[in-house]
Amino acid sequence: MSHPHLLVETDGPVRTLTLDQPERRNAQTPSLWAALADEARSLGDDIRVVVLKGAGASFSAGIDTAMFSAEGVAGEESMKGLVARGEDAVDAAIATYQEGFTAWAQCPAVVVAQVHGHAIGAGFQLALAADLRVAALDAWFAMRETGLGLVPDLGGTGPLVHLVGYARALEMCATGRPVSAPEAHAMGLVNSIVPAADLDAATYSLVGGILSAPDEAVRALKPLLRAAVDDPSREAQLARERRAQGPLLTALVDGLG
Ligand code: CAA
Repeated sequence: MSHPHLLVETDGPVRTLTLDQPERRNAQTPSLWAALADEARSLGDDIRVVVLKGAGASFSAGIDTAMFSAEGVAGEESMKGLVARGEDAVDAAIATYQEGFTAWAQCPAVVVAQVHGHAIGAGFQLALAADLRVAALDAWFAMRETGLGLVPDLGGTGPLVHLVGYARALEMCATGRPVSAPEAHAMGLVNSIVPAADLDAATYSLVGGILSAPDEAVRALKPLLRAAVDDPSREAQLARERRAQGPLLTALVDGLG
């Protein structure tokens, strides 16, 4: 499913998805979320790493705020129209929106968000949907939903609490204050921060590091570590490690001849 504001480029085992509506700071809409979900679900085995980035001045300034206006955004159902369809319709629509975010945790490739400028609301949540985050020193993150009278509902609350802890997550979401890249780095929200001019190089150097490990091992690693987040029970995790290791160990030993 192609989308006018999502640029898809493939370089060998690396796919780069660029949010591409810089004149609206890569504001997001339900059709974009559907396209993102489709991209995540349709990744073939040939793609090992996905980079999510934004064109222009921002990674993403969040939901297209025109979605809340009576006119809405051309080609999209406005929030007013959605709400008029009733509670069940709202629940079902949000579940569909969430797939554009949650599908990245489930996909076999390692997903890197490259954040520059702003990551606001849905933009912040998209960065949280990735496995790893690399940020420009001058980037900032803000969860603005609460200030609008809403809550973050695009899959971002779980990873945020996991990465920074309950109290910091509550403070960030309740106040909506901008969190600078250095602060985000210090609290474990982003993996690395670099000067804006070095951002692409830093991202693709990280990608190179991931690609240098054997494909099968990285493919087994991501669901193994994700499972530890979702279900930290010690015995269950030890069993998952054993199950992941069995076929890898067999392949390694067989390869030794
Ligand atoms: N939706 C639609 N258009 C947006 C937008 C958004 N989220 N963010 C920016 N734009 C548009 C602006 O309206 C402006 O358009 P015009 O040139 O036609 O006036 C253009 O992008 C450039 O914006 P600015 O001039 O404001 O650029 P800036 O660099 O000075 O500031 C910014 C950038 C800090 C991101 C600022 O635009 C901003 O605060 N935007 C709104 C962010 C926001 O509140 N997003 C919603 C968060 S909540 C959410 O995402 C989840 C949810 O479900 C509710």
